[in-house]
This record gives sequence, structure tokens and C-alpha cells, in this order.
Amino acid sequence: SRTPVTITITGAGGQIGYATMFRIASGAMLGQDQPVRLRLLEIPQGMRGAEGAALELTDCAFPLLEGVELSDDPAVGFEGANIAMLIGSRPRTAGMERGDLLAANGAIFGPQGRAIGERAADDVRVIVVGNPANTNALIAQQHAPDLPAERFTALTRLDHNRAVGLLAAEVGASVKGVDGITIWGNHSATQYPDLSHAVVAAQPALDAVDREWARGAYIDRVAKRGAEIIEVRGGSSVASAANAAIDHVRDWVLGTGDRRTSAAVVSRGEYGVPEGLISSFPVRSSGGDWKIVEGLEVDEFSRGRIDASVAELVAERDAVRELGLI
Ligand code: NAI
Repeated sequence: SRTPVTITITGAGGQIGYATMFRIASGAMLGQDQPVRLRLLEIPQGMRGAEGAALELTDCAFPLLEGVELSDDPAVGFEGANIAMLIGSRPRTAGMERGDLLAANGAIFGPQGRAIGERAADDVRVIVVGNPANTNALIAQQHAPDLPAERFTALTRLDHNRAVGLLAAEVGASVKGVDGITIWGNHSATQYPDLSHAVVAAQPALDAVDREWARGAYIDRVAKRGAEIIEVRGGSSVASAANAAIDHVRDWVLGTGDRRTSAAVVSRGEYGVPEGLISSFPVRSSGGDWKIVEGLEVDEFSRGRIDASVAELVAERDAVRELGLI
């Protein structure tokens, strides 16, 4: 049988960690013929939550699950990791200054990046979920100089899946008939869900929907969907975030075929995004690597939206530089 893949999940005592690990152990991420080992990484105050989840993993008796280990030490938690899902972070809370937010996350993602660089397997692939996800991924990447920068990514797949679902609902079409949507830029309110090259039910999306909606209310709805979920559900997006993280890793490892999706990956200057930023792009995956889809036409409206979100990423990068975090 195949060698198990080692997957480290940080924030394993929290909500998204909880919603992620059972699906991974059931084979939803890497397939029904791939055994997995889970490493659950927490901080001391989160360890009981992770321990409880580990008890439940035992109680599921998953045939693919070859082992579960817990730690509050990144050097142990990332040892031999093939996949690192960085979910635990210090997200912004009301009244928090940007400098404080970035400093708190620098203290998490700097050491985690270093531990990944020193301890993880040579083929390690990193997905950052914890916000501010793009800049946290940049901080981690900068602390692992011996790994290819392309191995560090951030999650915009939730935004992408939201954009797919909301377009399909607007047209009354199946999500299977949707392709070519792009989320550009930062996983934040400035993100740009772009229908310019999308198709739905075998026609160009911009012909299938009202153009003003596509470039107005739709963008707002996707970008503010997290707040909508909190208001309606009385809690944040947990299952859909876990689902998106699993989609991201599955597509990265197993490939997308001809379909396109969105992921925040390191820029080599594509579409005018400054080199080194971890920004969301249209992507496909094959051979275990994300590839940015190049050559899409960017009209004036899209250019303005992309530039605005990328400017925010530049400002975050400059702020973490100034704080000495990278
Ligand atoms: P949560 O608060 O339920 O869980 C977070 C867990 O992370 C806690 O158990 C905490 O102890 C742990 N943690 C904190 N620092 C850690 C460290 N240094 N090492 C290991 N574990 C650590 O939060 P939830 O709901 O699970 O969300 C996690 C993150 O995901 C948040 O930052 C949230 O903003 C972000 N998020 C990102 C999305 C995206 O699309 N990129 C979507 C939804 C949430």
C-alpha cells in the first residue's frame, strides 16, 4: 500500500481545524487510496480542544488514518510534513491597529515558516488560511529561504467557490457549468471577483447576467459574504472555509485538468503584480504545481480593481518590512 502523507494542521483545536480534519481522514482531500497521518499543532490553551478532536478521530475508525500526533511545538508539529495547513492565526478584532495585527501574526508565522523550512519534508506544500492570509503566507515564506517560494500559498478558494455559487444561483444554472471565474488580489474586502472570462451554462457570464450587477452588487456580495454568513448563521464561515482549504490542496496535488480556479500564489510579475507578493490569480495545477493562467485580457475596469487590491498587499508587505517581520 502507499506511503502515508503527513499533514500538519495548525489551529487544530479551533473551528476550521475541527471541520477540516475529519474530511481529510475520510479521504476527501487526497483520495480513497491515500493513507494519511495527521499532526495537530496548537498553542497550549488550544491543546484540550485538539485532544478532544483526536479522541473523536479514533472513534471514527477511519481506515485511511494511520496516526494522529499532537504538539504545541512547531519544530515537532512540522517534522516531515508533506502538507501544512496553517489555520491558526490572530485575526483582526474590533479596534485593533494594523501594526498590532501584523506584529501578532509575525510572531506566529515567522517561527512557523522557519520550522517548516527546517523540519518539513522536501516536497512540503503550505496553505495559509489564518488571516490576514496573504501576508501571513508571505511572512512564513520569507522565513523558509531554502524552499521554493511557490510552495507557500494562501486561501482564496473560499472566495472563488462563493463566486461560483452566487453566479450559478443568479442564472439558475448548475455550478458544473461554471468556469473561468477569477478572484484577484488580497483575501479581504478589496478582492476582485472577475467574470470577464467566465462562462456559465455554455455562454459568456457577462452575456448571461446584467453587466451592472456583475461589476457592482455581485462583487460586493462575494467580498462581504463572510459578514452575511455571520449575520444569518450567528457564527463565522467554518464548514465552507474547511471545504475550500480541502479543495485547494486536492487541486494542487491531484491537478485541475483544464478547469481554472483561484489561489493566492507568489507573483513573478504576472499581470503587473509586483514580484514576490502572494496574490490571488487565475490558476491551474498540474504535476503538483500551480501555474498562473497568463494572457487573459484585462480591461480598464478590471485593471482598476486589481490594482486597488494589490496596492493593499503592497502596503501590508511594506508594513511587515518596517516592523522587521520579514
Ligand atoms: P478559531 O479561533 O476557532 O481557531 C483558531 C485556533 O488557532 C485556536 O484554537 C487557537 O488556539 C489556534 N492558534 C492560535 N495561534 C496558534 C499558533 N501559533 N499555532 C497553532 N495554533 C494556533 O478560528 P477559526 O474559525 O478556526 O478560524 C481560523 C482562521 O481562519 C482565522 O484567522 C480566520 O480569520 C481565518 N479564516 C480564513 C478564511 C479564508 O478564506 N482565508 C475563511 C474563514 C476564516
